[in-house]
Amino acid sequence: MRAMNADLPRLAALDDEERLLDDLNPAPRLLMGPGPINADPRVLRAMSAQLLGQFDPQFRAYMRETMALYRRVFETANRWTFVIDGTARAAIECALVSAVEPGDRVLVLSFGRFGQLKAEIARRAGADLRVAEAEWGTVFRPEQVEEAVKAFRPKLVATCQGDTSTTMAQPLAEIGKICHRYGALLQVDATATVGGMPLPVDAWEIDCATGGLQKCLGGPSGSAPITLSERMAEAIYRRRHIEEGLRPQDYTPGAGRIIGSNYFDLAMLMDYWSDLALNHHTEATTMLYGARECARIFVQEGHASVFRRHELAGRATVAGAEALGLKVFGDQAHKMPNVTGIHIPAGVDGERARRALLEDFNIEIGTSFGPLHGKIWRIGTMGYNARKDCVLATLAGLETVLAAEGCKLPRGAGVDAARAVYRAAGGSAASS
Ligand SMILES: Cc1ncc(COP(=O)(O)O)c(C=O)c1O
Repeated sequence: MRAMNADLPRLAALDDEERLLDDLNPAPRLLMGPGPINADPRVLRAMSAQLLGQFDPQFRAYMRETMALYRRVFETANRWTFVIDGTARAAIECALVSAVEPGDRVLVLSFGRFGQLKAEIARRAGADLRVAEAEWGTVFRPEQVEEAVKAFRPKLVATCQGDTSTTMAQPLAEIGKICHRYGALLQVDATATVGGMPLPVDAWEIDCATGGLQKCLGGPSGSAPITLSERMAEAIYRRRHIEEGLRPQDYTPGAGRIIGSNYFDLAMLMDYWSDLALNHHTEATTMLYGARECARIFVQEGHASVFRRHELAGRATVAGAEALGLKVFGDQAHKMPNVTGIHIPAGVDGERARRALLEDFNIEIGTSFGPLHGKIWRIGTMGYNARKDCVLATLAGLETVLAAEGCKLPRGAGVDAARAVYRAAGGSAASS
């Protein structure tokens, strides 16, 4: 066969052939970027449990419990609340390819890189797409959303709750009502915020919310919680087609056009999670154990306590950064509690500083994308790492590497300011 003239990317060779059969022994990093963060040890323990078959009655009970736990996480009565095997974008893609038929109008409210991701997925699903953009570092006002929805009349509106690329959180309380006033469905990507800030899906009339485990829920990526309103579930289920080989005698396919993806076919996944228990993929059993444990830990601690822990860690990080003379990025009134953008000071090599933090302190913080690349670092304080000790260690390390970069800083001021935030919060929060 003749070689195609495509420029395939390079693949690095092994660093060291001798290490090929060594035990896996990752460095004890403190992951303080925008996700993933360190998993809660309880989640890792749950994930070391032995496998079960996916139709084992005990495993089906775990599936039902996982659904019940995520209903609590999302504050919803939606029956169609379950997890997708895949990273957070798998749930986003499931929602968009299953709800959007080619030619359907989709409005994406984009205020960062993950808004662009939803536009990209909707485009691939064949949507008649319109993208409303807010400048990076800002969010939409409800009047702007209403104007855009009224003018375009989409079938579905997709947005982020928190876009980690800009650290901004879009207020959502009014958006669902606006969408419903004009007959549109609202899909919210809450990958970076579920479990870190309020997301009452029913009260805010959200038709579909999707998440990931690797941020505020304190687990690894690889399982993506999703919840669907009846309206969304019906829009999807009318496209139901059962795979050949599984079809019952009396099978009639749904009236809607077949969903273009097999793996991301939410109608088939609904059949799989339902009492029909129709076969689809082989369940990622270990991920389900992890997802269940993430939700169990969240529910056990309680919404108010978890949100307060995230808010406090974010506020302490901001106070610490500002006390060091650093500037925090974006509209502070709409900042996500769990991710803080910090302008890289003039004259500092941002990547060299990040590398020093990793090599000397074992601490990872995030770089950034697009127009913010090379301009801000992003520090995540979420899930298992939304803790005082993590915040203080990160500020101490950052101060040291900045001093080594030649910055004149009030030494010790960052840690002192962050500790003061925790002290002022008092009570049990002071040690969390
Ligand atoms: C807001 C948001 N949406 C979607 C994603 C994609 O998630 P994943 O990498 O788990 O597919 C991310 C990841 O950082 C995110 O922050």
